[in-house]
Amino acid sequence: MSREGSAAHSDIQTSLEGLVLDQDWTFSKADTSYLTHGLHDYPARMIPQIARRLIERYSLKGGRVLDPFCGSGTTLVEAMLMGRDSVGSDVNPFALLLAKVKSTPIDFRRSKFAATAFLKRVDGDHRKRERAKALPAAPLSIHPNLLHWFKADVCRDLEFLYEEILKVEDDDVRDLLWVVLSDTAFKSSNIDRRSSRFLRVLRPDKLVEHMPDPVGHFRRKLSDSVERVTSFTDAVPKGSLSAVGFGDARKLALDSNSVDAVVTSPPYGEEKNTVGYARWSKLSIAWLRLRDQKKPERLSLGFLPATGVQEMVKQLPSETARKLLSDLVQRDPERVRDALPFFFDYLASLRQMFRVLKSDSFCCLVVGDRSIRQKPLDMDRVTVELAREAGFAHVESFHRSIPIKLIPWNTPTGRTISRESMVILSTA
Ligand SMILES: C[S@@+](CC[C@H](N)C(=O)[O-])C[C@H]1O[C@@H](n2cnc3c(N)ncnc32)[C@H](O)[C@@H]1O
Repeated sequence: MSREGSAAHSDIQTSLEGLVLDQDWTFSKADTSYLTHGLHDYPARMIPQIARRLIERYSLKGGRVLDPFCGSGTTLVEAMLMGRDSVGSDVNPFALLLAKVKSTPIDFRRSKFAATAFLKRVDGDHRKRERAKALPAAPLSIHPNLLHWFKADVCRDLEFLYEEILKVEDDDVRDLLWVVLSDTAFKSSNIDRRSSRFLRVLRPDKLVEHMPDPVGHFRRKLSDSVERVTSFTDAVPKGSLSAVGFGDARKLALDSNSVDAVVTSPPYGEEKNTVGYARWSKLSIAWLRLRDQKKPERLSLGFLPATGVQEMVKQLPSETARKLLSDLVQRDPERVRDALPFFFDYLASLRQMFRVLKSDSFCCLVVGDRSIRQKPLDMDRVTVELAREAGFAHVESFHRSIPIKLIPWNTPTGRTISRESMVILSTA
């Protein structure tokens, strides 16, 4: 069977050479939101079953698993559940908060936090202040367009919840509450969540009918979240540790030869034309006042457009990407200028992964295909070519079609990503 033929068929999985595999990587019927994975959405989230299988196969118990593009922390959660220590970094402050919360066990009794009592007090105070018309004002300074994305009364409720959360003393509990607030803000916003594009508000007629109940949503979400964190805490083997922190994958602050395995899903291209993690997180970043860090999109792979495009295309150490971009460069030099730096940044991050990994260990990359000016680009091939340049050997690859899209994946160029590959490399 040809590789192209099999990619079009949703149930058949193939290796890089086009061999049909008997193992299913689609996980089309699997629950992908168990335990803390269900705390909050994140774009292009890795499904936990894939992280689990990769960790199980390519790392040893007690080892240290790194995810240098940790996003919402899927790898970190699964590594901990399987008795590995995990290290995660990202440039998006909201992703870092979410990854930390998802991978932090909490003993609520020891933290002296009782969700029921907290919610009862919050509900009571909210009712009183609403009756007295004493809810806080919409915090217009947190976002230049706040009242475009939220109704004014929703803003007052969200700000009330924000102030209540500030009073909570335990750091881990307060971080969990920030995640619950972020989910509440997202679900109470004016965003048309059925639209394929994230950045669109509801049509005016729908907006009139739109009557969110932020405090009610917060109440339900918090009860559900406490259950999830409690079950995760019970399931994590004693002694598994997770460390999450800000980090640019192009210059990792980790010692050489200090990591036993990498399991990660890098971005598929420059944020502007592929998945916009920073764009997607901007309302959460605003509500949680996470703005004190550098603008995440400026640090994302491929942010700065290229100069000396023709020369750079020639130097690109991926034959597959070089071919596509040299075909395009005469017709659309601007588009090539935007796309090109990503590949060099991706190579820089692969060099870092190679540096921090111990010898004889594995690096597992989950990559999605993309297109540039409607021309499809096999990111698994590009990954293998760049990884070889960084010193890795290619071990094997698996492919899956993506069965459902939980979040709108449409990119500004209108193309969605529907095939994903698991590329396995080794430092041997
Ligand atoms: C495909 S997502 C990872 C999703 C993650 N596996 C999960 O399950 O949620 C890619 C991530 O790379 C991050 N990223 C982009 N540029 C980065 C850089 N220079 N260094 C570190 N992380 C970066 C984005 O913020 C995004 O969270």
